[in-house]
Amino acid sequence: MGIQTAAVLGAGQMGSGIAQTLAGSGIAVLLYDLNRNAAALGLKRIGDSLNLLIGKGKMEDKQRSLLLSRITISTELADAQAADLVIEAAPERMAIKKELLAELDRVCSPHTILATNTSSLSITELASATGRPSLVIGMHFMNPVPVMPLVEIIRGLETSDATYDQIRQLSLAIGKTPVEVRDFPGFVSNRILMLMINEAIFTVYEGVATPEAVDEVMKLGMKHPMGPIALADFIGLDTCLAIMETLHHGFGDSKYRPCPLLSQHVKAGWLGRKTGRGFYIYP
Ligand code: CAA
Repeated sequence: MGIQTAAVLGAGQMGSGIAQTLAGSGIAVLLYDLNRNAAALGLKRIGDSLNLLIGKGKMEDKQRSLLLSRITISTELADAQAADLVIEAAPERMAIKKELLAELDRVCSPHTILATNTSSLSITELASATGRPSLVIGMHFMNPVPVMPLVEIIRGLETSDATYDQIRQLSLAIGKTPVEVRDFPGFVSNRILMLMINEAIFTVYEGVATPEAVDEVMKLGMKHPMGPIALADFIGLDTCLAIMETLHHGFGDSKYRPCPLLSQHVKAGWLGRKTGRGFYIYP
């Protein structure tokens, strides 16, 4: 039968992007957030993103309404009970994600696959919070989800072949290219990307160049679509710091030490685009 219904937990930029992508492929989606305003904001973000597509002549009003009709918002975790798949996109903290997965394990039907959109944490450890480690898997999307073609798929130690096959097939069905990688800190994407971002922040910290200059170098010299400092603001500086801490702790190698300037920005609450200020200021 495959996956017909899904619940996405966390209505932030990743969760809403995942919900939009699933609903765009005909899947009924429950978009959950602890906070009703956050859930409503997630749905609004999806509506706005679809309006952009309409503005560009890439979508019709009817398609927008149909896609939105497939998404229901909720603040009750128990509403995820009947979903074939749950994808959690909660903040990048082991304790938060473990607690959420343990609760999902209690409320969800025994066949429900529990996927995590973690960008760096151990799938094996997350799975240990549940009584169904064979049905737990990493499904790591990239931001902006509707645009980026990659999904990193990560098996925990006990993830079954059947779970892997279903998630691989789903990724293809929603127009993504799945790439399987091993369960190591930061997987492949963030082990490489975050080191570049952290080093870019060090060049600012050491006074080598301004954020604008660093970004120009990487855009014009290396043809990156966004400079690394702007990308850090786009991802969220709290997420960048959490990933660096996971890499540093997981490998025990000083090359992964987070730049003090990154930590300072997070302490100040300058988390990037989502708070209106990061390395840049957003109107
Ligand atoms: N929904 C649907 N389509 C969208 C969209 C959305 N939310 N946002 C943008 N698009 C589409 C636009 O319609 C546009 O399509 P066309 O080219 O067909 O017109 C296209 O994407 C490009 O968008 P824009 O023209 O608005 O802007 P842009 O050319 O500056 O591109 C960008 C924006 C796609 C974000 C580009 O700057 C980019 O690729 N940046 C790098 C993003 C990246 O590296 N992401 C990975 C981050 S790492 C991560 O997510 C994982 C992690 O764990 C930290």
